[in-house]
Amino acid sequence: MRLFSHSAAAPFLHRLTTLYNAPAKPVYFLIHLLCLPFGGWQAVIVAAAITLPLGLTSSKEYAELEWPIDILITIVWVCYAIVFFGTIAKRSQPHIYVANWFFGAFIITIAILHVINSLAIPVTMFKSYSIYAGTIDAMVQWWYGHNAVGFFLTAGFLGIMYYFVPKQAERPVYSYRLSIVHFWSLISIYVWAGAHHLHYSALPDWAQSAGMVMSLILLAPSWGGMINGMMTLSGAWHKLRTDPILRFLIVSLSFYGMSTFEGPMMAIKTVNALSHNTDWTIGHVHSGALGWVAMVSIGAIYNLLPVVLGKKQGDMHSIKLINIHFWLATIGTVLYIAAMWVNGIMQGLMWRAVNADGTLTYSFVESLEASYPGYAIRALGGAIFLAGMFLMAYNTYKTVKNVSDEQQEAANNSAQA
Ligand code: HEM
Repeated sequence: MRLFSHSAAAPFLHRLTTLYNAPAKPVYFLIHLLCLPFGGWQAVIVAAAITLPLGLTSSKEYAELEWPIDILITIVWVCYAIVFFGTIAKRSQPHIYVANWFFGAFIITIAILHVINSLAIPVTMFKSYSIYAGTIDAMVQWWYGHNAVGFFLTAGFLGIMYYFVPKQAERPVYSYRLSIVHFWSLISIYVWAGAHHLHYSALPDWAQSAGMVMSLILLAPSWGGMINGMMTLSGAWHKLRTDPILRFLIVSLSFYGMSTFEGPMMAIKTVNALSHNTDWTIGHVHSGALGWVAMVSIGAIYNLLPVVLGKKQGDMHSIKLINIHFWLATIGTVLYIAAMWVNGIMQGLMWRAVNADGTLTYSFVESLEASYPGYAIRALGGAIFLAGMFLMAYNTYKTVKNVSDEQQEAANNSAQA
């Protein structure tokens, strides 16, 4: 909290206002308002960490928190929207760069999803019942769940990608026209695909098939965005040899391409019959969450942190440590997801194997025992990834410390003079 008390936050906020070279007053107000979503979001996390272990849950996947916390999330999100759209309204140039279109879609859609999916009747302070029932509840839940992936873990991070890849590569985005096509096609197709989470369920068959077809179509805009990001490097591929921050950003795009190829394949009903409920889904999730979301964020933080501290972009304490981090993150993710793919396909095949007399060939426990080696490799991959994050924490600490040491030294020198 102290960090965001008025006195401690002031130099940081001032730095942000000068950084964006904006007319001070309204933007300063908006940046102050930013403390509210930040503090509010931390309060949400603390409330979740307390209530969930106590068993206080709405039992909706990815939307487990009870109604008072849901209301807090809505307030936080509205403040966030005011800060974002307020800043857009006060911009100094007429054009709105495509990254901000993605951020805008992410903020609006998450608000709609959160409110509609969380609609419930409270019966006590910590218990409520969803206003939806049965299959409708399941469909609303997966409309929410899939679009949380589409707009939280995809559109928001595509916004990051469209800003930081050109910045770090010091080149304009490959095709601005493609980025606009990418934006409109992605947001208009994503919202129809959620039914692929409910294959072979009580959901009407036509709705499952529609979800499958829309998921297959979704491959096109997803790959359009990936290609646009990667091709931004055309003519400057050599930078990948020396710049580990750029490597983070570009490899994150290849994981994005991989998970958005895999997703439509898993959405095909016959493939889903094998993959559903197995570790294959866990592998898919982590090629998205570690390979795409985490790696693009890490690249963006390495680029931006020195800028916020008043240095050149990417000017971290140690580039060598960033390079080691890159390899740890990549190897960790690959070990993790490969282990889950192997486990998943093996589990699916073992569960469906039947003897000539129609009995099951394997018990569930046998499939679990066969999964142990995969779990050991998964733990190793996760530990390697985590080790990389510790390196990042150390590098960040040193970068901040170097800057404050330099500032201290400059202050001492000017006091002596
Ligand atoms: C074209 C894009 C994508 C499509 C069509 C797609 C499709 C799918 C499918 C078919 C499943 C399995 C559903 C099941 O059998 O239960 C799934 C699960 C999942 N996907 Fe994707 N996916 C895509 C991209 C992504 C990305 C980029 C991420 C993460 C950044 C992601 C995160 C997840 C998660 C978290 C689950 C697990 C949901 C659960 O709790 O069951 N997906 N996806």
